[in-house]
Amino acid sequence: MEITATKRVGEMVKELEMATVSELPSIEILERGKVPDIGHEKTCECPSNHINCLTPKEWLQSQVAIWEFSYEKRDIRDKTIHPAVFPIGLPAKCIKLFTHEGELVIDPFAGIGTTLLAAQDLNRNAVGFDLKQEYVNVARCRLAQGRLLNGTQQIAICDDARNIPQYLKENTVSLAITSPPYSKFLAKPKLNKSMRGDLRNNKHYQTIQQYSQDPNDIGTLEPVEFAQQLASIYEGILPSLRPKAHCVININDLWWENKRYPTHAYIIEALTKVGYELRNVLIWDRRNLVNRPGIFGWPNNYIKLGTTFEYILDFWKPPD
Ligand SMILES: C[S@@+](CC[C@H](N)C(=O)[O-])C[C@H]1O[C@@H](n2cnc3c(N)ncnc32)[C@H](O)[C@@H]1O
Repeated sequence: MEITATKRVGEMVKELEMATVSELPSIEILERGKVPDIGHEKTCECPSNHINCLTPKEWLQSQVAIWEFSYEKRDIRDKTIHPAVFPIGLPAKCIKLFTHEGELVIDPFAGIGTTLLAAQDLNRNAVGFDLKQEYVNVARCRLAQGRLLNGTQQIAICDDARNIPQYLKENTVSLAITSPPYSKFLAKPKLNKSMRGDLRNNKHYQTIQQYSQDPNDIGTLEPVEFAQQLASIYEGILPSLRPKAHCVININDLWWENKRYPTHAYIIEALTKVGYELRNVLIWDRRNLVNRPGIFGWPNNYIKLGTTFEYILDFWKPPD
C-alpha cells in the first residue's frame, strides 16, 4: 500500500494533538511573541554582489515570465487538511531567485508550511505565520519529517500576521513570499469549475471552505478592504526586510455575482502606497492542473476560467 504524504501527515497530526509539547522535542515550538534565534546571513561561497546562487543558465531560464508547476508527492492537496495550498515548486522557485543559502525567508500566511518546506530543502532559514493552530501543527509535522542537519531552521508560528514585527529583527529578511487568502474568495459555495460532469459533483461541490471564522482572518474581507489590511500588515514587515529584499505575493482576482474584482491591482496600489516598489508581474500558468473543465457563460457571457492562471506579484523594498 502506498503511504501518501497526506496519510503520513494525518497520522502525525493526530499524534501531535494527543501529545504534550515536551513529548515532541524534535518539533520546534516557539512561544508567542518570542523573537526566534535564527540565522539570516548567507553561508554560500557566491560573490556578494549576486542576488542568488543561480548559474547564468538557470538565470536565463528564470527570465521567462510565465511559470508552470506540478504538485509533487509531498504536496498535500486534501482539502479537509487545508483548502488552498500552493505547490512546493512555487516558493522554491522564488527562494532560488531571490536568496542565497543561509538567508532568512518569511511567509506571513504560511498555511500548512509549504514555503517552510521549500526553505528546508534549499538550506534557507525561514519563519512562517498562520492564524490557525491546526495548520501550524501540520506545518510542524511536515518539517519534522524532513529535518536535516544543515544548520538552518524553519519555524512555524501560530499568530496573526499583524504581530509579525514582534518576532523579527530589523534588516534581516531577504525574501517574504506568500499566498494570502484571496480576499473573500472562499466564502462562496464551491462550483468545481475546473471539472466536468460527474466529477464536478464531488463531496466539496457547493460547500464553503473558509480557513476559519476568526475575526482576524483576512479571508473574510471585501477585496478593497482586504488589500488595505494586507498593505498594513506589509507596512509592519518593511523594517525587517533588507533593502532590495523581494516580497512576492501569489494572488488571483475575484469573480463575485458576475462582477470582476481585480484584487491583484488593488494590492499593487495598496503596497505601493506603504513603500514597496513593484518589480515584476509573473503569471502562474495552471493549465496543466485543469482537467476537463466545465462550460460557463456560454453562449452570451464570456468569462475566462479563473483556474487557468494566477498572478505572482514581485515587489521589493526600495534601496536606501
Ligand atoms: C492561501 S492560504 C496559505 C497556504 C500556504 N501557501 C500553503 O501552501 O500551505 C492563506 C492562509 O492565511 C491564513 N490567514 C488568514 N488571515 C490571517 C492572519 N490575519 N494572520 C495569519 N494568517 C492568516 C489562513 O489561515 C490560511 O491558512
